[in-house]
Amino acid sequence: VSKESFQIPPGVLIKTEKQVEGIRKSSQLTKEILDMVADRIHPGITTNTINEWVHEHTIKHGAIPAPLNYNGFPKSVCVSINNVICHGIPDETVLRDGDIVNVDVTTILDGYFGDAGRMFIIGNASEEAKRLVNVARECLYIGIDQVKPYQDLGEIGYAIEQHAVKNGFTVVRDYGGHGIGLKFHEEPHVHHYGSRKRGVVMQPGMVFTIEPMINQGRYETRLMADSWTAVTIDGKLSAQWEHTVLVTETGSEILTE
Ligand code: MF3
Ligand code: CO
Ligand code: CO
Repeated sequence: VSKESFQIPPGVLIKTEKQVEGIRKSSQLTKEILDMVADRIHPGITTNTINEWVHEHTIKHGAIPAPLNYNGFPKSVCVSINNVICHGIPDETVLRDGDIVNVDVTTILDGYFGDAGRMFIIGNASEEAKRLVNVARECLYIGIDQVKPYQDLGEIGYAIEQHAVKNGFTVVRDYGGHGIGLKFHEEPHVHHYGSRKRGVVMQPGMVFTIEPMINQGRYETRLMADSWTAVTIDGKLSAQWEHTVLVTETGSEILTE
């Protein structure tokens, strides 16, 4: 298919240079906040403590934590432990030796959004837990490798699912990546599984997240009574890594790295 024949689907924004610069700055602050968490996280702290660190650091840099009050979310960061897939709400839960923990930070700086998440292994985790965390990270980077202009968006999810399944894991379908930059969640929705052809083509100036959630057991999710916390249906482990990515003329730029 020729470049000229591509349509930009409704709601998908092609960012201007100025907008990209703003999203890049915000994304760099998101990265710094995750670096700060990485320096401090250890067994014995509560997830509320991580929330305080992220909240204070964000405000100190003149930014706003995007999760706070987003559709009623009550805290400034998502912290998801072990069988929690995503959107864990910080509380008085204590991080314990052997836990695997996702911290997902989204920053609004000068009106621009950056979104990234990492896994942290607390103390000594099982070999299988560590393998899940590593494969989930590989899935993120294998997805990012598929980001290039005039390629179908479906290639990302296809490549991620191949890698997860090859390693005996499954891919969550109920949540995905998303366009981002001027809002928290924009079009397009980015699948981490499924068909190579979605009929949406990547274009220079598109910005979206890739954030595969990889499960040890079944891929299905269950929503807890708080209406945010998503857990695995079988109680097994889940791991997630996330970056905000820009489509460039030649490939991609990871804005949160
Ligand atoms: N950061 C999450 C994402 O990657 C969204 C969290 S929404 C919240 O899309 F309200 F739970 F913060
Ligand atoms: Co996120
Ligand atoms: Co996201």
